[in-house]
Amino acid sequence: MLEITTPWSSAEIYLHGAQVTHFKKHDEPPLLFLSQCSCFATGQPIRGGIPIIFPWFGKPADRPGQHGFARITDWELKEMAMAPDGAVSVRLRMERVDSPECPACALEYRVTVDAALTVELIVMSRSGREFVFENCLHTYFTVGDIGAATVVGLKGVDYLDQLAGFARKTETRGSIRISSEVDRIYFDTPHPVEIRDESLRRAVRVEKEGSASTVVWNPWIAKSKAIQDFGDEEYQQMVCVESGNVAANKIKLAPNQTSRLKVKLSSERLT
Ligand code: BG6
Repeated sequence: MLEITTPWSSAEIYLHGAQVTHFKKHDEPPLLFLSQCSCFATGQPIRGGIPIIFPWFGKPADRPGQHGFARITDWELKEMAMAPDGAVSVRLRMERVDSPECPACALEYRVTVDAALTVELIVMSRSGREFVFENCLHTYFTVGDIGAATVVGLKGVDYLDQLAGFARKTETRGSIRISSEVDRIYFDTPHPVEIRDESLRRAVRVEKEGSASTVVWNPWIAKSKAIQDFGDEEYQQMVCVESGNVAANKIKLAPNQTSRLKVKLSSERLT
C-alpha cells in the first residue's frame, strides 16, 4: 500500500486492485468511504474507495465472478513522481495475455493527488480482434448522513433500474435523495455529477472524460446485512456514484487501439 501526503491532502493506494482506498483534504473529512468490515485478502475485492471494474460490469452469465478481475489483481507500481508544487502522481500497470474471457491487453492506471484526486484508466488492446468491454470506477463516497445527501446532475437521463428487472426508466428528479435501496445505471452522462452533503456541508464534484455511464448504488438496510464485508449500518455513511462505460455504453475497441477513462474528484464547502 502506498501512503501519499501532499500540501493539500493525503491518499492511500493498494497494489491489490490498484485501489485508491483513501483520499482526504487536510481540512475536510475523508472523501472516500472504506468499510470497517472490508477484507484485505487475495482473491477478494476491497470494500470501498475506488474498485476498478473491468472488463465486465455485474455478473454476466458467461463470465466468471462479479465486476471482472481488475479489482482482485495485484498491479505493478511503475512510477511515482512529485511535481514542483508537491502534487504526487503514481502509475500502475497490469497486463493480460489472450484468454477466452479477455483479449490480450495492457492496462495503466494513473493517480494524481493534489487538492483533488484524479484517476485515469487506460486500456491498450494488444490483440488482433475487436475488444468489447465495460469499465467502471466504482467510487464509494463518504456522506455524513445519507438522509441529508443528494445526487445532482442526472435529470432527464434514461437509466436501467437493476432492482426492477433492468427496466428502462427516465430520471425525473434534479436532486436525487436516497431513502431505499438504489441500483441504477444512467446512460449517456458525460457531464459532471455532484453529491451535495448537507450534513458535512460539502459538495463533491465528479468530472469525467471518456465515461458515458453513471451508476448510483446504495445497498440500504437488507442488502447491507446480506453483504458479508459491509457493516449493517454503513449504508448511512456512503453512496456510490460510479463513472464508466456500462451495458449499452460498453466500449468496442478496434485491434491495437487505446481507450481512456478519466475522473476528477474535488470538493468544496457548502456555504
Ligand atoms: C454496483 C452494482 O455497481 O456494485 C450492484 O450496480 C452491486 O448491483 C454493487 O451490488 C456491489 O458489488 P460488489 O460485487 O462489490 O458487492
